[in-house]
This record gives sequence, C-alpha cells and structure tokens, in this order.
Amino acid sequence: MDVLSVTPLLLLLSFLGCCAGQNVLPDGPVEAILGKSVTLKTLVDKPVYFFIIWNHNNGSEQTHVATASHTGVKVNDPYIGRVTVNQTNGYLHLEGLLASDNGDYSIQIVTDDGTTTTGDIHLRVLEPVSTVVITPSLTEATEHNSTVVLICAAKGSYLKFAWLMGTKAIVADGKRITLKEEKLSSTLTISGVLRTDLPTPVTCNATNNLESQNSAPFSLIVHYGPDEVSITPPNPPKFLRSKSNFSLSCASPSSPPATFSWYQNQQLLDVTGPVLTLEAIEKLKLDSAVVNFTCRAKNAKTQRAVSSPAVSFAVMEVISGAEVSGPTSVLLAGNSSANLSCKAASGQVQSVRWEQDGVAVSSVARRSFSPDMSSMLISPLQKEDNGEFTCMLTNPINTDSASYRMVVNYGPEAAQVIGDPAVEVDTKVVLTCSAASVPPANFTWKFNGTKTDVKTAQYQIEAARYKNTGMYMCEAHNPVTGKTSTHTHTLSVKEEGALDEGLSDGAIAGIVIAVLIALGAAIALLFFCRQKVPVESPY
Ligand SMILES: *[C@@H]1O[C@H](CO)[C@@H](O)[C@H](O)[C@H]1NC(C)=O
Ligand SMILES: *[C@@H]1O[C@H](CO)[C@@H](O)[C@H](O)[C@H]1NC(C)=O
Ligand SMILES: *[C@@H]1O[C@H](CO)[C@@H](O)[C@H](O)[C@H]1NC(C)=O
Ligand SMILES: *[C@@H]1O[C@H](CO)[C@@H](O)[C@H](O)[C@H]1NC(C)=O
Ligand SMILES: *[C@@H]1O[C@H](CO)[C@@H](O)[C@H](O)[C@H]1NC(C)=O
Ligand SMILES: *[C@@H]1O[C@H](CO)[C@@H](O)[C@H](O)[C@H]1NC(C)=O
Ligand SMILES: *[C@@H]1O[C@H](CO)[C@@H](O)[C@H](O)[C@H]1NC(C)=O
Ligand SMILES: *[C@@H]1O[C@H](CO)[C@@H](O)[C@H](O)[C@H]1NC(C)=O
Ligand SMILES: *[C@@H]1O[C@H](CO)[C@@H](O)[C@H](O)[C@H]1NC(C)=O
Ligand SMILES: *[C@@H]1O[C@H](CO)[C@@H](O)[C@H](O)[C@H]1NC(C)=O
Repeated sequence: MDVLSVTPLLLLLSFLGCCAGQNVLPDGPVEAILGKSVTLKTLVDKPVYFFIIWNHNNGSEQTHVATASHTGVKVNDPYIGRVTVNQTNGYLHLEGLLASDNGDYSIQIVTDDGTTTTGDIHLRVLEPVSTVVITPSLTEATEHNSTVVLICAAKGSYLKFAWLMGTKAIVADGKRITLKEEKLSSTLTISGVLRTDLPTPVTCNATNNLESQNSAPFSLIVHYGPDEVSITPPNPPKFLRSKSNFSLSCASPSSPPATFSWYQNQQLLDVTGPVLTLEAIEKLKLDSAVVNFTCRAKNAKTQRAVSSPAVSFAVMEVISGAEVSGPTSVLLAGNSSANLSCKAASGQVQSVRWEQDGVAVSSVARRSFSPDMSSMLISPLQKEDNGEFTCMLTNPINTDSASYRMVVNYGPEAAQVIGDPAVEVDTKVVLTCSAASVPPANFTWKFNGTKTDVKTAQYQIEAARYKNTGMYMCEAHNPVTGKTSTHTHTLSVKEEGALDEGLSDGAIAGIVIAVLIALGAAIALLFFCRQKVPVESPY
C-alpha cells in the first residue's frame, strides 16, 4: 500500500483522533537546541498498531512527518534523512533541528480494527545562547553627570538576562538604575552614575532553559572628585621658624588624581604639586605678616575644582647676633650719661626687655627708653648704675640676649676706720679703713699728720707701744674721680691692766674652774661619808 496515497485519509484521521481525547504523549513542551536532536517519546509501551502517524503543525499549517507500519517507516519529503520513527515504541526522533521544527507534534496510533489513539506535544527549538556582548554607551563616565546605558545583547531564543557583579546580581531600583528586558537584549541604565555603582567589572548572563553564557566582563571608569580637599597640617603654628623643615600638603579623593595649585591670600603661586614646602614659601620673599594659604584641587576629566580650607601662619627668622652697645669712655657718676642700645644681626625682633643684674629695668626718672625699647638712656649716671645690663630680644620663635657691663666711677664716699680706740701696751692693733668707691680707693695713712709707708686698707701694729698713741688718718683716694676722703681715728696705748674693768676674762675663767673643782670634791666627800655611816663597827 502506498503510504503517500493515504495522506489525506491520515490527515482526516488525525483530525478525528484529536477529538478522541486520549493523549499518548507526555505533557509538553519539550525543548531542544537548534541543530541538535530530540526524541519525542510516547507513553505507550510497544503498542499494537496498524499505522503510527506523526504530524507537525507550525501554527498555520500542518505537515505530515512520517508514518510507521509493519512494513517500514515512510518519512515525508522535507524530513527525509533527519527523522526516524522507532517501529517498536513509536518514538519520533528528529535530528539537525531547524527553527521551523518548532510547533505541535501529534501522533495517531491506528490499530487493525481502526481504533485510533492520539496525542500531541509542543516542541520548542531553542536557538543556542551565543555572542553575549555588552555594548556600553560610554566607557568613561563622570560621576553625577553621566547617564550610562549598557546593552547586553545575545543570540538565542527564550532568553533571560541577568547582570552580575562578581556573583552578586545588580538590582534595579526603578529610579536611578533601571533594567529593560527585550527578547534578545537587556538594557541597564544608570543615570547620574556614582563611583559606587559599578565598582567591579560587570558581566551579563544570558540563559534559556537549556544553556547559559556570560559576556566578557565590562569595566566602567567613573571619574569623580575632587571631593573634600584637605590640607595638612590643618592648624600649623602661627609662626614658623624660617628654614625649618615644614611643608603643607594637600589631598583630595579624585579619579583621575587631582592636580593641585596653591594660593597665598587668594593669589595664585607658581607652585604645583600636592606639597608646598617652607623653602618654596620663603623663596616668595614674604614679609613676616601672617598670610593665608589654600590649595585648589582640580580634576581634568570632571572639570571640577575644589578649594581647601585656608591655613595661615607667618614665617619668622630666628633672632641672632644680639649686641648691646654702650659708652666706651670713662664714666663718672653724676656727670656722665650712657646710651645703651641693643640690636640683632638678623631676625625680626618683636619685643625688647632690659635687665640689670637679673632684675627687670623699669623706666625711672634717670632712665628713659626709646619707643621701641631698643635703646635706653641713663642720665646722669649714678653709682646704682653699676652692673651688668642685659637686653633680651624676643619674637615668637626665639629670644636672643646680649650684655653690657656698666662701670660708673664714683667716690670715694666718706671713709671709715674700724679699730679699738684704746689698747694696752704690747697688744696687737688693727685699724681697717674703708670707703665706697669705683674703682676701689687707694689708701694712705698719716700718723699725727705725718705720712706713713702704709698703703693698704689695714694699718697694723704687731705690739703697741706708748709712742703709738696718737691720730691715725686714713686717706681714701680714687684715682679716676680724683676725689679723696679721710677719716681720723684716735688710738691710746695704756699700761698693762689699765683697761681691766675688775677681773680679766682669764681670771674669771680661773675662778669658775676652781669653784667647780671644789664643789666636785665636796660632793665626792659627802658620798664617801654616807657609805661609811650605816656599817656597824666590829669594835
Ligand atoms: C508553516 O509552514 C509553511 C510551509 O512550510 C510556511 O509557509 C509557513 O510560513 C509556516 N508558518 C509559520 C508560522 O512558521
Ligand atoms: C526501538 O525501541 C526499542 C525498545 O525501546 C529498542 O530496543 C530499539 O533498539 C529501538 N530501535 C531503534 C532502531 O532505535
Ligand atoms: C548564568 O546564570 C545562571 C542562573 O543564574 C547560572 O545557573 C549559570 O551558571 C550562569 N552562567 C554562567 C556562564 O555563569
Ligand atoms: C622633614 O620632616 C619629615 C617628616 O617630619 C622627614 O621625613 C624628613 O626627613 C625631614 N627632612 C629633613 C631634611 O630633616
Ligand atoms: C585669611 O583667611 C581668613 C579666613 O579664611 C580671612 O578671614 C582673612 O581675611 C584672610 N586673610 C587674608 C589676608 O586673606
Ligand atoms: C556636570 O553637571 C554640572 C551641572 O549639572 C555642570 O555644571 C558641569 O559642567 C557638568 N560637568 C561635566 C564635565 O559635564
Ligand atoms: C662734668 O662734665 C663736664 C663736661 O662734660 C665738665 O666740664 C665738668 O668738669 C665735669 N664735672 C665733674 C665734677 O667732673
Ligand atoms: C642711643 O643710641 C642709639 C643707637 O646708636 C640711637 O639711635 C639713639 O638715638 C640714641 N639715643 C639717644 C637719646 O641719644
Ligand atoms: C692705687 O692702687 C692700685 C692697686 O690697688 C695701684 O695699682 C695704683 O697704682 C694705685 N694708685 C695710686 C695713685 O696710688
Ligand atoms: C702724737 O700726738 C699725740 C696727741 O696730739 C701726742 O700725745 C703724742 O705724743 C704724739 N706722738 C708722737 C710720736 O708725736
């Protein structure tokens, strides 16, 4: 029997069969990959049949695929070479699947007595997942400004797309980050992109029920910043020592790294880079005024520029080489005056203080200061002005000082002689003369108006004689002032004992000792006698 000739009959049967309502095929759909093969299985085990007929319906047209009978399998024209039907169980095996193989497959099992059982199942021929590619709208974005559109496109059918960062899925928030799914693509849109949106490379995963494929990773460069610009140290000392190891540095989060420029009181400096050294500042030859420094960070890609807070300080030179100048001539109390002036070889002096022998000098009647305190005029000089004058030059960085020794010549003032007015013969006599004087006075002595050889402050007589009685005049002479002062001391030499007022010291001491010894002896005797008394005499 010519199978082909019965095709219209079979088609009719298939139509009837469909109404019989018995499904000998499992529930679909069955999915298979384009170009691969698929076997449509029946639910009957070794059916007894006259014909098994497989038809394909692509949605608009039905086509006969193959018919199996005991004599053989007849495969319809377009399927020859790619279709077999197992005569034992009726399975339909399709190879080299085409997109046109999509659709409903139906089976009719017709027995010898004309009973027909039918079934149908849907076959989806899936195009394999391939060429998953991310196409970005841009590869370099500017934070906040750019809208980034990433399109992931793939070939395949029944595709689902997922956007991944590492293993984490990117989730759309529906506002800034949106996802739009289409049959063959997914579009990820990020508006006002942030550096945190895609910190690591992103991949797109396209899947269908049978296969999946990832795109190559895509990295988005997001340019950002400069953010807050910081300057270190944020609070430098108000005054900096000139030539010291100091620098300002500027930093700001930025991608690409920011470029820095520096401003002094809003004026651009010829310094670039994140560090402004004190050396560079000093080359600008600023005076000692306190000035502001700010740094400005600029990102060439984002075109943004941000300024740091201002820091301010003054650069000060260390005071050194302090020197006091004063009079070099001989100074006389009451007549001379002195102008002490103090200055430093280098450094800016902010205040001057004066001390005399460690005590602060204040402005009193004879002492007056120049307005800047750098010089002090003492007029007229007095003996109180003798001493060491120190001037202290101070600025916020250091203090330097220098001293001047002031010698004011004066005197001698009234001379004085210390010594006994009367001595006994043969005793030693020391007369000491003194008179306040700068320089120290030279002394000469006159006895009874006659010059002696003694030229020291002390006049000594080893053992007084009666002839030493008389007037001793001490003359104090200051060779610088040319002044002289005198004092006359009267000495009288008396006979031995003449000056005793009662007993001499030695005699008193002797008497005291004698009394003590006598007292001791008496006590000893008393104890001796008391020991004897209680003992009865044997006689
Ligand atoms: C169904 O198959 C016929 C013949 O092969 C074809 O002309 C038609 O376009 C197909 N329809 C669909 C929806 O594929
Ligand atoms: C047909 O199916 C039977 C039973 O399932 C099996 O034993 C046999 O090998 C199949 N024949 C072919 C040609 O695949
Ligand atoms: C794609 O995603 C699916 C499900 O999320 C996963 O099973 C599959 O392994 C992924 N494919 C690749 C190539 O990573
Ligand atoms: C300056 O100071 C820095 C850090 O305080 C130090 O690393 C550097 O060696 C110093 N330079 C000099 C010349 O002392
Ligand atoms: C320095 O900065 C402070 C605060 O930023 C400002 O008040 C002051 O006027 C500035 N001084 C100069 C000289 O620019
Ligand atoms: C970013 O946006 C701001 C305001 O929206 C604009 O002023 C600026 O020029 C933009 N920057 C870039 C690099 O497009
Ligand atoms: C004081 O100085 C003046 C001039 O400097 C001089 O003429 C006078 O003699 C001096 N007087 C004394 C007491 O030294
Ligand atoms: C003291 O000396 C200084 C420096 O030589 C000078 O500037 C100043 O005018 C002098 N003062 C007086 C009162 O002469
Ligand atoms: C005064 O005494 C000093 C030493 O004390 C001496 O050098 C000087 O020559 C003396 N002058 C006179 C005028 O005697
Ligand atoms: C010194 O003068 C005193 C009294 O004027 C007199 O008593 C004495 O004898 C005189 N001595 C000599 C050695 O001249």
